[in-house]
Amino acid sequence: MAFPTTRLRRLRKTAGIRNMVRETSLSVHDLIMPIFVTHGTNVMEPITSMPDVYHFSLDNLNDEVDRIAALGIPAIILFGVPDHKDATGSSAYDHNGIVQQATRQVKARHPELVVIADTCLCQFTDHGHCGVVHVHEVNGHQIGEVDNDASLAYLTQAAVAQAEAGADIIAPSNMMDGFVHAIRAGLDEAGYQDVPIMSYSVKYASAFYGPFRDAAHSTPQFGDRKAYQMDPANVREALREAEADVVEGADMLMVKPALAYMDVLRLLKDQFDLPLVAYNVSGEYSMVKAAAAQGWINEKEIVSEMLLGMKRAGADLIITYFAKDMAEWLQKP
Ligand code: PBG
Repeated sequence: MAFPTTRLRRLRKTAGIRNMVRETSLSVHDLIMPIFVTHGTNVMEPITSMPDVYHFSLDNLNDEVDRIAALGIPAIILFGVPDHKDATGSSAYDHNGIVQQATRQVKARHPELVVIADTCLCQFTDHGHCGVVHVHEVNGHQIGEVDNDASLAYLTQAAVAQAEAGADIIAPSNMMDGFVHAIRAGLDEAGYQDVPIMSYSVKYASAFYGPFRDAAHSTPQFGDRKAYQMDPANVREALREAEADVVEGADMLMVKPALAYMDVLRLLKDQFDLPLVAYNVSGEYSMVKAAAAQGWINEKEIVSEMLLGMKRAGADLIITYFAKDMAEWLQKP
């Protein structure tokens, strides 16, 4: 037989055949759109480091959510930018906190749209850490440390307040040990046994969150998050994080960031049967936006390829600031 015997190009010859043998697809049903909500009236404040992303006050929120729903995007994830910060992040668990208000408003207007609430304290604490800080003295120096177990109580209160406001899914992103167990128990006790937990199981201490922290005003005022978020060098530890969350009752797992952690997505997909979420984070978004603004890359093609790559790596769902754009591109390719 003539060489070569294997001719892979046969199945690449026409668009018709390529469409038939395509292994992975991206659909609007895979997308989750993040929204930043804030106090005040008539606020639609651009976020400098994230072109085309805004802070919305509640009176401007309906238009944005209407657009998202009209595009067929099934879900949003809400991030609060509060007007009050304190040591325990009380606006996170206040029944009238900005995320709770936004949740009620969106659910009243779009009952079918899935509202996911990010459960963390960092936007709400004056020190900018994801839990409460315990200060103690070591050799005459004041050392601030995030107190794991004390933080769990506040995070649980926040999750319950979010569920009470009508959040369909609770998404804890704080990386305290035992947070899924604590929040599950709190939700169950408050009568929200049916509210699922999408756990930010594997969340790395990443420079890719830079633009988000500008957006959410949540940069830590001292130190960094390396004592609770994961070391980017580790992957076996990612399995232990995910395993702990599964045992504690998580309904969905997440890997964050996505682009630099595709191997972690694949590993979790192979090891666990829970729906898997990839978070295409702010830094991944802003890099593409910046290069596209320079005319160096084709934004639509780059974004489509990145998101498809996350699906191929194992993601069932993708949280992405490109959700609206991608939904439009999927409508008219
Ligand atoms: C809050 C939180 C962060 C992100 C989502 N939830 C920031 C952080 O941990 O510093 C980052 C999202 C993004 O970069 O798009 N804990």
